[in-house]
Amino acid sequence: QIQPVIMAGGSGTRLWPLSRAAYPKQFLAINGPQTLFQQAAVRVASLASDTQIVLEPLVVTNEEHRFMVLDQLREIGMAPMAVLLEPAGKNTAPALTLAALQAAAAGADPVLVVTPSDQTVTNAPAYVAALREAAQAAQAGGVVILGVVPTRPETGFGYIDASATGMVREVKAFREKPDAATAEKYLAAGHYFWNSGMFVLKASVWLDALRKLRADIATATEAAWAKRGATDQAFIRPDKSLWTEIPSESIDYAVMEHTATAGIPVRMVPLDAGWSDLGAWDAVWDSATRDGAGNAVQGDVLLQDSRGTLVHATDRMVAAVGVENLVIVETPDAVLVADKSASQGVKHIVASLAKSG
Ligand code: GDD
Ligand code: MG
Repeated sequence: QIQPVIMAGGSGTRLWPLSRAAYPKQFLAINGPQTLFQQAAVRVASLASDTQIVLEPLVVTNEEHRFMVLDQLREIGMAPMAVLLEPAGKNTAPALTLAALQAAAAGADPVLVVTPSDQTVTNAPAYVAALREAAQAAQAGGVVILGVVPTRPETGFGYIDASATGMVREVKAFREKPDAATAEKYLAAGHYFWNSGMFVLKASVWLDALRKLRADIATATEAAWAKRGATDQAFIRPDKSLWTEIPSESIDYAVMEHTATAGIPVRMVPLDAGWSDLGAWDAVWDSATRDGAGNAVQGDVLLQDSRGTLVHATDRMVAAVGVENLVIVETPDAVLVADKSASQGVKHIVASLAKSG
C-alpha cells in the first residue's frame, strides 16, 4: 500500500514579490498554467496506474491555506485523503510525523511517498519509474531517498554520499546544506548526489527513527496529535497549544544526518527526470522555456535587444530594451528588478520589509 504525502507548509520568500505570506510559492503558477502544488499532486497521483495504490494525497499545510489546498486540488479533479493543518510552521519533521500518525491510524503501515511542493520535473515517466523503484525498495524497511546528479555547488540542498552503482544504492552519509567550500568538495568528489527532498518510507520507519533520534519532537507531536479536534470535512487539526511546544526542525537535520547512529538503513534511487527546485528566480529562469536569446517571459511582456532575462508580468504590460541577465517581476503592488545572479538576495529584501512593517 502506498500513501502520497505532500508537504505544503513552506513560505518561499526568495520568490518575492510573487510569493507572499498569504500566498506562498507552492500555491503559485510560476512556470506554467498549474501551480507547483498542483504539479506535485498530479505527479504523485500518476503512481496510481500501478495496482493497490491510493490516489488521494495526505496534505500537510498551514491552517491559513486549507481552502487553497482544497480549491487547487478540485481544479485538477482531485480530492485529498485528508488535510493536516498546522497552527504554525514547525518545519518538515513534525509535518511528516503528523502524516505518519494519520496514515498509520487506520491500522495499516503504508509506504509513504513524501514529496515537497516547490519543485518541477520535466520527465514525468522517468520520475514515476524512479518513485516506483523507491516504493518497492521501501517495502523492505529503511529510508529510500531520490538523488539527483549535482551540477553546481548549491548550498541550499542536502548531499547524499552514494558511491555504488545500480538502481538502488546504499547511502554512506547525508549532509544537509553544507557551506560553499564543502559543497565544492562534494561536487569535485563525483560520488555525491543532491537530495531531491522526496522520502519514501513506511510510516512506522519514520516514527521509530524520530523516536530514537529526536524523542522530544516525536513526543510533542504525538501529544498534539492525540488531542486533535474532531475531523471537519477533510481537515484534521492537532491541538493548538500543545503544537506550540514542538521544536522546529527539518527531516534532514532531525533524522537524515544521523541515521547511521540509530542503525537505520538508507538507500538511494537516482532521479534523472529534469528535476529542479524553484528556490529563487535564477532557478525559475533555468527551468523555464526560453527563446533563442535566452529570455523567459510570462504575461504581457515586450522585450527588445535583450538577453538571458526573465520577465514575469501579472497585472500590467512590461517592456524592456537592451537589458541582460535581469529578473523583472511585476505584481499590482510591488515590482522587483534584480541581477539574475543576485536573486538569492531577494530574501533579505523580504526580511527588511518585514522589519519595517
Ligand atoms: N507542512 C509543512 N510544514 N510543510 C513545510 C514546512 C512546515 O513547517 N516547512 C517546509 N515545508 C514544505 C515546503 O513547502 C516544501 O514543499 C518542503 O516542505 C521542503 O521544505 P523547504 O523549506 O523548501 O526545504 P529546503 O528546500 O530548504 O530543503 C529540502 O529540500 C531540498 C530540495 O529541494 C531538504 O530536504 C534538502 O535536503 C533538499 O535538497
Ligand atoms: Mg525547497
